[in-house]
Amino acid sequence: MSPQPSPDEFSWNDGFLLGYPPMDAVHEEFVGLVGAMKTASDADLPALLDRFAVHAKDHFQAEDAWMEQTDFPARECHVGEHAAVLSSVMAVQQQLKDGGDCTSARRLVTHLEAWFPGHADYLDAALSHWMCKLRWGGKPVVVRRNLPGSAAAVRAPE
Ligand SMILES: [Fe+2]
Ligand SMILES: [Fe+2]
Repeated sequence: MSPQPSPDEFSWNDGFLLGYPPMDAVHEEFVGLVGAMKTASDADLPALLDRFAVHAKDHFQAEDAWMEQTDFPARECHVGEHAAVLSSVMAVQQQLKDGGDCTSARRLVTHLEAWFPGHADYLDAALSHWMCKLRWGGKPVVVRRNLPGSAAAVRAPE
């Protein structure tokens, strides 16, 4: 089933924080770029997709390298998701370069918006815990501000 486009803007909030600062910084950039593509005109979308492709390569390579360098267990699924998403991004980039319209790019943006929260909560959160434990000896504590429906939330991510 295709993901349904959200009528709302896709923007960063503290609900996305996972507690490992280098990863959170990369994720904020991801959300910013997907949000920008979501509201971009057809004229602006190809250049934004090019920027996003550079981001995605760096983002996924960094996480893959953290997993490899620290011998993270059972990393194949996570690495495989990165490779599948990057391959879709590059295919749509090529379609645009070949003169295609923005239909595939807009569908890709909808998929990215739907894909990221689950990927972050499930696969990236486990890696964030792992990196924090290796670096600081414990689970990350995340302070989340301005979440919808609450003034503040402090919790260790699942
Ligand atoms: Fe990530
Ligand atoms: Fe990831």
